[in-house]
Amino acid sequence: MHCRYSENMSPKSALKAKSEPVQPETPSRPLALLQWYDRHRRRLPWRAAPGEASDPYRVWLSEIMLQQTTVKAVGPYFEKFVARWPDVTALGRASQDDVLRMWAGLGYYSRARNLHACAVAVMREHGGAFPDTEAGLRALPGIGPYTAAAIAAIAFDRRTMPVDGNIERVVSRLFAVEEELPQAKPLIQQLAATLLADSRAGDEKSRAGDSAQALMDLGSSICTPKKPACSLCPLNDDCTARAQHTQETFPRKAPKKTGTLRRGAAFVVTRGDELLVRSRPEKGLLGGMTEVPGSAWLAGQEDTIAKQQAPELKGLSRWQRKVGVVTHVFTHFPLELVVYTAKTEARTRAPAGMRWVPIATLADEALPNVMRKVIAHGLDP
Ligand code: ADE
Repeated sequence: MHCRYSENMSPKSALKAKSEPVQPETPSRPLALLQWYDRHRRRLPWRAAPGEASDPYRVWLSEIMLQQTTVKAVGPYFEKFVARWPDVTALGRASQDDVLRMWAGLGYYSRARNLHACAVAVMREHGGAFPDTEAGLRALPGIGPYTAAAIAAIAFDRRTMPVDGNIERVVSRLFAVEEELPQAKPLIQQLAATLLADSRAGDEKSRAGDSAQALMDLGSSICTPKKPACSLCPLNDDCTARAQHTQETFPRKAPKKTGTLRRGAAFVVTRGDELLVRSRPEKGLLGGMTEVPGSAWLAGQEDTIAKQQAPELKGLSRWQRKVGVVTHVFTHFPLELVVYTAKTEARTRAPAGMRWVPIATLADEALPNVMRKVIAHGLDP
């Protein structure tokens, strides 16, 4: 195994306990973590108050939104969603278009389509109640192993540990895991599970959800990627990386491969106060979202080839090339778009598959961030 880890009690605190028997015993790691959480937990809109039961709908919604998005960015979206759709059945009855519109700006739009599909499945196949096991949750759209474990632990107190990026960092430091990510994931998962409190007899809660959220909070507020505040950490006595003064070097990671730059053109066409748009194909990147017409996005594409893919409209002015380019970084590739603008006469019809929308109501369209940048650049005088 590529890691070293100490016993629950550090040698230092074990000695202390022997020589000073009146001192309270150092709590086990799981207990120390829960005690810290009880004092320092973040107040987040989807979290139940201490002692209150979690609402599986809110837990699920937050976990889907938090996939690849920060707590700060998610907050206002979460509030908007629960105000409009207070339970899973209400969301299941909504149209996919409305859900996509509310989601616009959060990115990774397949999550929004899956969110809606999942609400429909819970409504139709489970009578509006989420399954309460990891396996049951995994079978729903948009719920992978991490999310299933998070919902099972937080909403249903199942004794399982979801491991996100924050938890990976805390655990890899605590146990000084030398193996690189992503290969180290199974090992980190096993080690993370040792931080769950024992399941108790009778109907006492395992508090697995609190253990997981404690690690998440620890990772975001104390065990941060840079300059971790180790002196405030409830596990500091026990942390192998800290003992070695190497905490900032964990987790070990294989160097990142960025995708090849793709290039293309985007065409911002106005008809008075309206803009020409179309919907992207349902499947694939930004599926179903609104965009201005554009060329294919290809590695090494020449500007002249991209420009030839401009839409054809009657009475169109000459294309103006805007100075500069719009750049956007997707998960698998960076993109560079040249923006062209043109105006057309009143009553000019939109080409097949395209439509005019008032610029004043663009906020109601499901516009991905890359298109917000393109339109802002194209309409900039
Ligand atoms: N990130 C993912 N799930 C979270 C949660 N439940 N609380 C805080 N951060 C999170």
